[in-house]
Amino acid sequence: TSAPSEGLAIKTDVERVGSVKQQLSRLAKVSLQALFPDEIEPLIAVCQAKFGDYQCNNAMGLWSQLKGKTTEFKNPNSIGQAISKNLPQSEIIESTSVAGPGFVNINLSNKWIAKNIHNMLVNGIEQWAPVLSVTRAVVDFSSPNIAKEMHVGHLRSTIIGDTLARMLEFSNVEVLRRNHVGDWGTQFGMLIEYLFDQFPNWEEAGDQAIGDLQAFYKASKKKFDDDSAFRTRAQQAVVKLQGGEDRYRHAWQNICEISRKEFDLVYSRLQVQLEEKGESFYNPYIPRALEEFRKQGLIKESEGAQVVEVEGYGIPLIVIKRDGGYNYASTDLAALWYRLNEEKAQWIIYVTDVGQQQHFDMFFTAARLVGWLPDPSKNTYPKASHVGFGLVLGQDGKRFRTRSSEVVRLVELLDEAKQRCKAELIKRLEDNGKIVDWTDDQLESTAEAIGYGAVKYADLKNNRLTNYTFSFDQMLNDKGNTAVYLLYAHARICSIIKKSGKDVEELKKLGTIVLEHPDERALGLHLIQFAEVVEEACSNLLPNVLCEYLYKLSEMFTGFYTSCQVIGSPEEASRLLLCEATAVVMRKCFHLLGITPVYRI
Ligand code: ARG
Repeated sequence: TSAPSEGLAIKTDVERVGSVKQQLSRLAKVSLQALFPDEIEPLIAVCQAKFGDYQCNNAMGLWSQLKGKTTEFKNPNSIGQAISKNLPQSEIIESTSVAGPGFVNINLSNKWIAKNIHNMLVNGIEQWAPVLSVTRAVVDFSSPNIAKEMHVGHLRSTIIGDTLARMLEFSNVEVLRRNHVGDWGTQFGMLIEYLFDQFPNWEEAGDQAIGDLQAFYKASKKKFDDDSAFRTRAQQAVVKLQGGEDRYRHAWQNICEISRKEFDLVYSRLQVQLEEKGESFYNPYIPRALEEFRKQGLIKESEGAQVVEVEGYGIPLIVIKRDGGYNYASTDLAALWYRLNEEKAQWIIYVTDVGQQQHFDMFFTAARLVGWLPDPSKNTYPKASHVGFGLVLGQDGKRFRTRSSEVVRLVELLDEAKQRCKAELIKRLEDNGKIVDWTDDQLESTAEAIGYGAVKYADLKNNRLTNYTFSFDQMLNDKGNTAVYLLYAHARICSIIKKSGKDVEELKKLGTIVLEHPDERALGLHLIQFAEVVEEACSNLLPNVLCEYLYKLSEMFTGFYTSCQVIGSPEEASRLLLCEATAVVMRKCFHLLGITPVYRI
């Protein structure tokens, strides 16, 4: 777990007990406090099943500090024994044992696991939200550029950023979802001047005038490169726009609006919520942000540009270009200033491809120089994190592109996933004679859930830093680690419950859960580990950790269902509750991954 933030409010909601790991940490802390004068952070980890469920791993480290200075302990094992003996009484722990160099193995009580699951079913899965030490975060994601196409890198950013935002929101962090669109800069002079040239009546024609914005961008760029008189006018147009001249501002808004509508086609398909605060929004804040650098003597002149020197990169961070204009870095500095001071965010998270790593490293370093951010080794807030991700590759191993254009048309891509799913679903339902039970609307929404879910999951299941190969065949396979497989697995659990004819709400009121069979217990243990998995995925900003958990959950369920009869068995009530708990946790995973669950197939 991360250290508590300094000077910022820490949540002290006693109702929220946190993950199993956090609960065990609290017990271990009491024990360590009884034994040692200094405050020691408990080291709790999941351990190999043959040793127990969890382990407290402090003894070895403590021994290396105490060796030769203590008569109380003769080896790490005796420290482990003492930690174990001093653990406070708790219904959580069934038994402990101390192994080798002082590992304290902890076995959880079956009763407590069962009670915990039952409690979640009755009071909702919010009970299992992890407790994080931040209250407000900015997630800066998607962030395409106006008039240029939103490409597959922006799609990755949208999918990863949305999941991170969802996981933090579930953990009771207030998330400001920010679309940092590229809506400012010299290209607008060229675009506006071209609009005036080609479509003198653009104000009446509105959106219709420009039509295809990418083609418009290319044509204006060509003119800019070929025609020097046009180039001069374009440069003057930038000055007029930035000076706030009405006609220019209006044209700029018109161009932004067209892009915005296109981006929204993708966002609405993916059901992603974003609030646009583009580069232009931060423009007025740049002078005051840079003033703080200037006051501290951090801005230098270099080859006509104004720069901040940051060590270790061989180049300085340019904040004012040679022509006097601001750039990507000065905008990001102003945005960071705004997020820290106006929005009072404690954690600012940026989701872009790894290619931008150096930009972020450099401007984070600059922000530390000026005193906006603390030294990262202190692990305190406020904190800024760059969430980098790798490339999407095509089957040929090269950067993913479609035949028709150099950048992938995202909308077509998503629609193709859905169409393929629909065809597959229809075939499946025809084969098993169930097609008559489905309306076209139901087919459509199910295909959408599976198709878009498959695209998202194929992206999220890999460690984000690795490149991955985009393949419809792979992601739409109903076997293996895919959203299709997982959504079907969920639907199957729902149909088991339905087939039993029992009312789950009644079972929750009356029944208890008993974890007798080893496969029941293994499933139960995995279920209650949900909170710490979300906690880890949030702290390390790694959605694949949640995907791995979800996939393993489906495997554990299969293990349980294969060895434990549910319907008609003496344990039916308890086992149906376990089915229900699995379905609830699966749905929450889907929700956090931005995937719509499917209840029948
Ligand atoms: N518009 C940028 C791009 O397309 C991404 C912006 C990311 N956010 C930021 N604050 N720099 O590459």
